[in-house]
Amino acid sequence: MSKVFQLKVEDGIGVATFDVTGDAMNTWTEAAFTSFSELMGELAKEKALKGIIFISGKPDNFFAGANLKMIADLVKPDEVREVLELFHGAFRKLNDMNLPILAAIHGHCLGGGLEFALACTARIAKEGKTTLIGLPECNVGLFPGGGGTQRLPRLIGYPAIELILKGTMLPAAKAFELGIIDRLVPADTDLLGAAKNFIGEMIAGTANLKRPEHDFSQLDEVIEMARQAVLKVTRGRTLPAPMLALKSIQDGVKVSLAEGLEIEKANFVDVVMSNEAKGSINTFFIKTLTDKPKAMMTKGFTPKPLKKAAVLGFGTMGRGIVIDIIRNMQVPVVVKDIPEALEPGKAFVRKILDGMAEKKRLKGAVDDYMKLIITTTEYGAEFKDVDIVVEAVFEDLKLKQQVYAELCQVIPEDCIVASNTSSLAIKSMAGLVTKPERFGGLHFFSPVWLMQLVEVIRGEQTSQETVDNLLNFAAAIKKRPIVCRDNAGFVVNALLFPMLLETFKYIEEGNAIEKVDRAMTSFGMPVGPIRLTDEVGIDVPYKIFKGMGVRQETLANVVEAGRMGLKKSGKGFFLKDGGVDPEVLSLIAKKQPRELTPEQIQEGLLEAMVKTGKDLLDRKVVDNVRMIDVGMVWGVGFPADKGGPMKWADLTGMSKRLFGKNFY
Ligand code: NAI
Repeated sequence: MSKVFQLKVEDGIGVATFDVTGDAMNTWTEAAFTSFSELMGELAKEKALKGIIFISGKPDNFFAGANLKMIADLVKPDEVREVLELFHGAFRKLNDMNLPILAAIHGHCLGGGLEFALACTARIAKEGKTTLIGLPECNVGLFPGGGGTQRLPRLIGYPAIELILKGTMLPAAKAFELGIIDRLVPADTDLLGAAKNFIGEMIAGTANLKRPEHDFSQLDEVIEMARQAVLKVTRGRTLPAPMLALKSIQDGVKVSLAEGLEIEKANFVDVVMSNEAKGSINTFFIKTLTDKPKAMMTKGFTPKPLKKAAVLGFGTMGRGIVIDIIRNMQVPVVVKDIPEALEPGKAFVRKILDGMAEKKRLKGAVDDYMKLIITTTEYGAEFKDVDIVVEAVFEDLKLKQQVYAELCQVIPEDCIVASNTSSLAIKSMAGLVTKPERFGGLHFFSPVWLMQLVEVIRGEQTSQETVDNLLNFAAAIKKRPIVCRDNAGFVVNALLFPMLLETFKYIEEGNAIEKVDRAMTSFGMPVGPIRLTDEVGIDVPYKIFKGMGVRQETLANVVEAGRMGLKKSGKGFFLKDGGVDPEVLSLIAKKQPRELTPEQIQEGLLEAMVKTGKDLLDRKVVDNVRMIDVGMVWGVGFPADKGGPMKWADLTGMSKRLFGKNFY
């Protein structure tokens, strides 16, 4: 393997070019550290050395940071300390050289990459689209542990705190403005040439490096304000990454750099050992897995070109699907519904597009997008050349079957057909589709244009080609897909419903609605399960349970009292002021009382989800446990720091307790 760091010395200036060959991005791998140590040895032999420049050999990447896989695999505190020592040892050696050292940056300079640059004497950066500078560790449940929490505040003062907490990635000009970068050069500059000039000035003492003394006398107050801001975002949850980052800054900046680095190291060991770090890193990996739906398609597959689409039903879901098609694919879309539904549907789409345009989230004019919508009340000539149809009519099997029979008389034979059904089996409709291998499910979440997830359902007869084409469509409308087989509730609802049944059981056992909801929001769910039920409509789970042959007593009582939810019918579980409506209490069916702690509620509800997840894996509804976790994180907002219910069950020991082994 070629060396990562290559040294060339000219006129007393050492130019160390680095390139982790074989990887798209430079990260601090074991090979990189070994090569760095060797480089230090070579440099020590250069007696007439006056300065060193570090520059990347990659076209658009300095150093993208530490290798997350390496961090995720650490299980013992001593292993974390060992890895930390690799970073700190390397950066210490740099400092001990007592020479001007310049980091010449183009492309991503992130995390351990920026910490490396911060350990140099100065930094020069070339402007460019890919030049992004920052410490994004908090976004993956960690914090900068290679000196970042100590060197950045000492260099730029208080603004470092927010940059670290938010993990902001700055363009070069902004980093220059804040003082992270000492010299900024335009995108077309020869970076190495500019770096040589700059280091010449550094050696001559004319470089004029601004190193202001920062006043940290208000540090405790500033940290406290930052802590409160973090708690607001996390809705009161004290997550290890931001809390330990703040502690490292607060305690470390008050002492010498060497002592501060020791404080940071100790806290970093704790953060890496935390379940939240491992959960967040899992979320990062499963996000990457589904970021590019095309990568989920069969290798070598050539998707069917999608030049025209059709949506059946212009209701809640149809409207959302139309919005996503026209704004992302910019192709004509035929929309079929009854006459009364067409104008309100179009008006709704326009309202949403207007809102997007106002927020500058739309490239062209709203009118041009609206022109792509072709409304119709018949299966006429407009359907003759459509490439894909998404059906979103009422959830009524007879109606859907009739719709497919009529549709198939007009669409071309190779047109892909998908149903957005939420509770009907794909196989119950496939028989009405001629060439049923081109038919599958596409289960969206509401509101479609805001929810990233879509479930791609492979029915018994759905061909792999159709699954691949549906993944291609998901990519075209910028959705995050998971693939599953035909199953009641597919993946997300299949996990959600047993959790809801368990929730109502707890309430019937005398646990207050507020307590159960609060237990789950402090677990990290965006809303509690009862509030979620109230918001989607209480009749929705009621009907679904009924369809499953389950009569949930409390839900039945509430629905039969005409309470479909605050938004839906003006009455539900909650009042407008957010409190529980006292009128609903008498509708709760009573069971043998069993008082639960918030932890018991969290564990019980997680267990209900995980047992279903295990069942989906056993029945091969999904091929990969990651599909379940992606579904729950992006479909219902399961906390990203927990990595999904299945990962969290692994991390907390639940998987081993229930099933004797981990899912991952
Ligand atoms: P909706 O009631 O808002 O809209 C249904 C639309 O279908 C109405 O505009 C209706 O006029 C139209 N329609 C009825 N018969 C038709 C026909 N023969 N041809 C064309 N259009 C016809 O219903 P929604 O909520 O949009 O649901 C549609 C489908 O999406 C259902 O299968 C539902 O289970 C599913 N779904 C709903 C979700 C939700 O949150 N609302 C989430 C995921 C799936």
